[in-house]
Parts: sequence; C-alpha cells; structure tokens
Amino acid sequence: MTNQITASQTITHSAEETIAFGRKLASILSPPLVVLLRGDLGAGKTTLVKGIAEGFGAARAEDVTSPTFTLVHEYRGSQTTLYHIDLYRIDTERELETLGLDDLLAPNCILLIEWGEKFPRWRDPTVEIVLERMGESGRSIQLRTR
Ligand SMILES: Nc1ncnc2c1ncn2[C@@H]1O[C@H](COP(=O)(O)OP(=O)(O)OP(=O)(O)O)[C@@H](O)[C@H]1O
Ligand SMILES: [Mg+2]
Repeated sequence: MTNQITASQTITHSAEETIAFGRKLASILSPPLVVLLRGDLGAGKTTLVKGIAEGFGAARAEDVTSPTFTLVHEYRGSQTTLYHIDLYRIDTERELETLGLDDLLAPNCILLIEWGEKFPRWRDPTVEIVLERMGESGRSIQLRTR
C-alpha cells in the first residue's frame, strides 16, 4: 500500500490492511455523501467501514459491527456522522421506505451502504467501492466516483 490514494484500485492482504486503507479513504470523503459498498458476502465491506469510522474519529474499529440485523448503525464524529447500512435482509421497496434513509442524508452525514445495489435508487451513487476476494486474505478494492 502506498501513503496516498492515487490509483483507483488497491490490493490489501489482511483485514488490518483494509482497515488502514479505510482510515485513509476517510480523508477524501466529504459529506453529504452516499457511498455504496459492493462485494460478495465476506468481501470486506464491513471491515472497510471499521477503518472509515476510525478515520472520521467516529468509532474504534472493534466497536464497528455488521448492521445485518440492526440494519442501520450510527457513528458520530466531531464533524461528521456516519450511517452504516446493510440492506442484505431488506427485500422490498416498502421495507426500504420504513428505514427512512433519505432523512439521514443531512449536510454533515455520510451513508455507507452494503447491498444497496439491490435497489434501483442506489444504482448510481456518487462513490462506489467494489471489493473482491483474491484468495484467502487478499482483497482488491476499487474506488469509482461519479
Ligand atoms: N484483506 C482483507 N480485507 C478485509 N477482510 C479480510 C481480508 N482478509 C481476510 N478478511 C476477513 O474477511 C472477512 C470480511 O468480513 P466482512 O464482514 O467485512 O465482509 P462483508 O463484505 O461486510 O460481508 P457481508 O456482506 O456478509 O456483510 C472478515 O472475517 C475479515 O477478517
Ligand atoms: Mg458487512
């Protein structure tokens, strides 16, 4: 890993490296923003959020857990509030509506959404981060911005 995020693709070799990358990524994300996190189960989306939350001073990595069942987790930094959202278990537009995600996108907020591509409304996010497995502990992390 380099010290700067210059390339659109990074490869990490451990969860710790992905967390470190997330910390750096935080410096280039500014609210209000929707970030879609894409990748298979276990690709490392939640692991990356651990680093992003640390980068914003919003939570310690060990305190960031998967919102698979709780659906939305809030982490407040001094400047920025992060909402970590997991739509894996959400199947209908109606269920999605009940989460009220639009109301969360305040000027100082960033939405980090896992499995958002299931719904048309999140298909063209400003920032998309695509994680792919490369063997047991390798991960390719691609950053796409619009
Ligand atoms: N380079 C790596 N980067 C990230 N995680 C890694 C890496 N190598 C191994 N891992 C492990 O892979 C798993 C990634 O799990 P994580 O919960 O972050 O995935 P996820 O994409 O959020 O999955 P889900 O869709 O189930 O929520 C963790 O157990 C982590 O320790
Ligand atoms: Mg996850």
